[in-house]
Amino acid sequence: MRKPIILGNWKMHKTLGEAIEFIDELKTRELPKSVEAGICAPFIHLSDLVAGSKDSDFGIGAENGHYEDSGAFTGEVSIASLADLGVDYVIIGHSERRQFFAETDEAINKKILKSLEKNVVPVVCVGESLEEREDGSYESLIKRQIEKAFMNVTETDASKVVVAYEPIWAIGTGKSATSKDANDMCKFIRETIKELYSDSVAEAVRIQYGGSVKPENITEYMAEADIDGALVGGASLEVDGFIALLEGAK
Ligand code: G3H
Repeated sequence: MRKPIILGNWKMHKTLGEAIEFIDELKTRELPKSVEAGICAPFIHLSDLVAGSKDSDFGIGAENGHYEDSGAFTGEVSIASLADLGVDYVIIGHSERRQFFAETDEAINKKILKSLEKNVVPVVCVGESLEEREDGSYESLIKRQIEKAFMNVTETDASKVVVAYEPIWAIGTGKSATSKDANDMCKFIRETIKELYSDSVAEAVRIQYGGSVKPENITEYMAEADIDGALVGGASLEVDGFIALLEGAK
C-alpha cells in the first residue's frame, strides 16, 4: 500500500517573508494524516522553513542540489549540506533544470545516489516535450530517463525514490494530461522499474503526476491505479489551494 504524496514546488517564487507566512499558516491547519505533504522551496528559505515546520505534519524540500559534498562549484548548494540542514526531499532533474541549466542524465543519477546516501528523499522528474509526444518517441525517452536515473541504485534504496512524471507540455500551461494518459505513463514507468528490479520494488515506488494539477482535477488523477500523488507548481503557492490538494488526494 503506497502512501499518497503531494509536494509543492514553489520554483523561483516567494520572498522569505512570504514563505514563512505560508508555513506559519499551514502549521495551524488540520492536514489529512493519510497523505504525505511537503513544500519544496528556494535554497535561501530552507533554513527558516525547516526550523519553522518542526513538529508539523509536512516536510520541507529543496528544488535542486549538488552531488559533491563540497568544492569549487560557485553558486551551488550540496545535497550534503541540505541533509545537514534537515531537509526531507530534494527535487532532481526537473525539466526546467534539464532545459535551462543543461542538467544531464549522468548528473541527475549522481544527485539521486547522493540523496540516498544522505537519507534525503530524491524526487526525480522525467517527462517528454510536446514534440516527443507527437512524434511517438516519448516511451523510449522516458524509459531511458528512468534507466539512467536508477543506475547503481541498490534494490533496497530503489523503493525510497519518488518519481514525478511531468510532461513538459503540461507544466504551467493549464493544459494538463488526461488522467488516463498520465496513468498510462506512470504504469509504463512502474513496468520499467519492475524490469530493472523486481515486482516488489515496482509496487513500492511512488510515482507522481505533475503538470497543471489543481484542486479541481487532483481527485481524478488520484483515482488512477498507478498515480500516487502530485508534484504541483502554481496551485501550491496559496495555503488554501495546497490544503485543497491534500484533501483531494486522501
Ligand atoms: O514541479 C511542478 C511542475 O513543474 C508543475 O508545475 O503545477 O505549475 O504546472 P504547474
